[in-house]
Amino acid sequence: MKHLLSIEELDRAAIERIVGEAERFAEVSDREIKKVPALRGRMVLNLFYEASTRTRSSFELAAKRLSADVVNFAASGSSVEKGESLKDTILTLSAHKPDAIVIRTPWAGAAELVSRWCSAAIVNAGDGKHEHPTQALLDVYTLRRRLGSLDGCSLWIVGDVAHSRVARSNILAFQKMGAKVTVAGPPTLIPRGIEALGCDVRFTLKELPSADVVYALRMQSERMTDSWVPSMREYASLYQINGRRLSPRQVLMHPGPVNRGVELSGEVVDSPQAIITEQVEAGVVVRMAVLYELLSGGPVRGPVSAPEPQLA
Ligand code: NCD
Repeated sequence: MKHLLSIEELDRAAIERIVGEAERFAEVSDREIKKVPALRGRMVLNLFYEASTRTRSSFELAAKRLSADVVNFAASGSSVEKGESLKDTILTLSAHKPDAIVIRTPWAGAAELVSRWCSAAIVNAGDGKHEHPTQALLDVYTLRRRLGSLDGCSLWIVGDVAHSRVARSNILAFQKMGAKVTVAGPPTLIPRGIEALGCDVRFTLKELPSADVVYALRMQSERMTDSWVPSMREYASLYQINGRRLSPRQVLMHPGPVNRGVELSGEVVDSPQAIITEQVEAGVVVRMAVLYELLSGGPVRGPVSAPEPQLA
């Protein structure tokens, strides 16, 4: 694998391989010294044109746990504010010879374009409404840990599907792993023709009790140009996942950041059914597996060994 641009390009075997590698790396995260020398001397550039808490910090931590050097670049405070284009920014930063570029932008297809402009391995950390492959991989990892397998599992993705790159990547990844996916939300927030991806569509939550896993999405108001729902209150009254709608046997997920009181009630966020923190934890080991696979020239072979403690 040269780049990780989308889930679309991965088959089940590739997803299982990355998730399996992440399981090995989980052992590193439990050690007192949480570092292995696997990518020593390699350079990872984090290039973020959009806000991020979880994705950026976990890519940084993942690279550092593999002993790579990390350069963080945020568009705000850079020459992007002076009008430098994406291409010129990539060409400029390529002079530092990064081995991998982790990129998040508001533009669908940007990660793929960048992969043509430079020789680094490109990881798509979210390109507009298109895809967010590492989120889907960490969600598969988290669910496999909780359920053992996704085969035959009924998974509902609820909320603003239209503006969500997470929805697109997750519909594809969950189905590739054998789950049955249903998307649900107001008609204005469900893209027409989404069934072509293989999922079912519902405009009410009447059948939500049949779901094994409920995956709620944030209302992406930053991507909404018109009024897509009459009001957040009305949205919440019809689609909010709360104690009344979530049954005790169901598992609750959310990619974060959560808008409490909108797509989720505070009580379900804090309930034992929510595995939102596990998703964040999984982010580090899954991103370690992705960086390792891209930069070491193949999947992890054999156990990763801990470095010898060294005196300064
Ligand atoms: C998501 C994103 O940015 O696509 N967040 C994330 O990466 N965990 C979802 C969101 O912003 O709602």
